[in-house]
Amino acid sequence: MHAAPTPYDPATDGAQMSFDGRMSYGDYLSIDTILTAQHCRTDAHDEMLFIIQHQTSELWMRLALHEIDAARSMIAADRAREAFKMLARVSRIFEQLNSAWDVLRTMTPSDYSRFRDGLGQSSGFQSWQYRLIEYAVGNRNAAMLKPHAHRPDILSKLQAELARPSLYDAALAHVARLGLPVPQAVLTRDVSQAWVADDGVRAMWEGVYRAPETHWQAYELAEKLVDFEDYFRRWRFNHVTTVERVIGFKRGTGGTSGVSYLRRMLEVQLFPELWQVRTTL
Ligand code: HEM
Repeated sequence: MHAAPTPYDPATDGAQMSFDGRMSYGDYLSIDTILTAQHCRTDAHDEMLFIIQHQTSELWMRLALHEIDAARSMIAADRAREAFKMLARVSRIFEQLNSAWDVLRTMTPSDYSRFRDGLGQSSGFQSWQYRLIEYAVGNRNAAMLKPHAHRPDILSKLQAELARPSLYDAALAHVARLGLPVPQAVLTRDVSQAWVADDGVRAMWEGVYRAPETHWQAYELAEKLVDFEDYFRRWRFNHVTTVERVIGFKRGTGGTSGVSYLRRMLEVQLFPELWQVRTTL
């Protein structure tokens, strides 16, 4: 029999092994806070999956908001090239969220029904970060503020967002400064209102898509926006398909018609003229 090899000690390679009084990985990342935030209300095995799936989605949404906000500021400062990288990252975040549905889909209707009552009235419908993303990119519906009326801190974040130009408003103001014919009424619109598709904006994008080499920066910006909306639509589609697979046509815990409501949301277009231009070109 051979002697057991001496176990490897990473300290010999210089690994830090002593953290008494010094900042460690767990301190820097607040791991204790994150890992003590899963409060299952039932003893159903799949509730942990359900909670973690939502929590990780909220973390990715936090990053998406950070990037969207910065991209909008860059565009407003006519530094669109720097915004492109951030918008590309937002699309990748949604791609990540899209893959995450595969994990949740392993939960069957019977698994979900074991803890559904434990959720009470809570639903992703009340996710203020999701609503903030929608508001920031341009899907503005003040009726969605209501579920947050009991939280003045969150309500004021959402209201402040409605008072600012959306990502799409910022993009149109930027391309107007590049010399493209964006209608004046669009540039001075009340930004708190829902976006209404505009023929003048479609005609402007049509000019860009007919001569991309002449309008390269506007063209690249348009494609970054379409890319984001494409991934965002996939998120909505994956969500509604997962919901149908798990609860069929039952009402949602948030009180809406469930799948019917979510299907209606699939029709919302963030940048309608950029999709219309595909047909009119
Ligand atoms: C089995 C899993 C899930 C089910 C059965 C489900 C069900 C629903 C239903 C029925 C709605 C409509 C509102 C309502 O009446 O409740 C909804 C909305 C929503 N859910 Fe989920 N959901 C699931 C997973 C998720 C996950 C993992 C997220 C990630 C954060 C999420 C985020 C949202 C958001 C943001 C909305 C609002 C959508 C909008 O208003 O357009 N859901 N969900």
